[in-house]
Amino acid sequence: MSAAGGAGVRLVLLGAPGAGKGTQADEIARRSGLPHISTGELLRTAIRDGSPLGRRVAGIVERGELVPDALIGEVMEERLSRKDAERGSVLDGFPRTVAQADLLDRILARRGQTLDRVILIEVPEPVIIERIAGRRSCGRCGAVYHVRHNPPKVEGICDRCGSELRQRPDDAEAVIAERLRAYRELTAPLVERYRRAGLLLPVDGRGRPEEVFSRIAAGVPGLRA
Ligand code: AP5
Repeated sequence: MSAAGGAGVRLVLLGAPGAGKGTQADEIARRSGLPHISTGELLRTAIRDGSPLGRRVAGIVERGELVPDALIGEVMEERLSRKDAERGSVLDGFPRTVAQADLLDRILARRGQTLDRVILIEVPEPVIIERIAGRRSCGRCGAVYHVRHNPPKVEGICDRCGSELRQRPDDAEAVIAERLRAYRELTAPLVERYRRAGLLLPVDGRGRPEEVFSRIAAGVPGLRA
């Protein structure tokens, strides 16, 4: 996968909680060699490590609310300034508000970079609930499974690192409702912004992960299914 002029490829994955952003971002990263940058995973790692950032955001993430824009801004300024992001990135879970989208525009403009595509993964709510309810994640390496659609080889154990799998605390039913509310109110307005900018690639997120990936690949030049 390459971009004109060697300027790099910058993709954003947009979609409701549990739509499959992380699953698809992983696959795009694996095939393209671009770094998969997930704000959710960066925050969960900080919480797991008990870092100052982790201590500040733990309660917010557990309640399913959005972390303040200023704090996410600091995290992403730092992450996007690292060497591996120079030639592009697959952004998963960022931007999530209008203020974050403005910030991303500023970061990219400063570096003479642009966004190539904003991939919107569209999945009906009952499917979302089923995907989140069955999700199991590795507390150590962050690998993601599903009890029915993508089970580990040994039940409850991570294929990648052998650690125990668990349910994310923010996947509890009451918290999912708050996360869906935050998505509808704060993130969904970005869809229109990116549609107007001619960057939006709406993708049907139903079906097996490989089927969803083929639909994405059909709309992203250089990404082969
Ligand atoms: P984040 O981790 O970004 O959570 P999210 O957006 O709610 O998305 P999820 O990780 O729940 O789902 P996903 O779409 O990646 O789906 P997945 O591929 O895992 O954020 C968590 C929290 O951090 C937020 O609530 C907030 O507090 C904070 N935060 C993060 N970013 C922030 C920001 N920018 N600003 C402020 N706060 C921020 O798939 C779900 C399940 O379905 C898995 O089990 C998977 O195996 C399965 N699956 C996936 N695709 C398929 C398929 N095609 N068929 C069957 N099963 C599938």
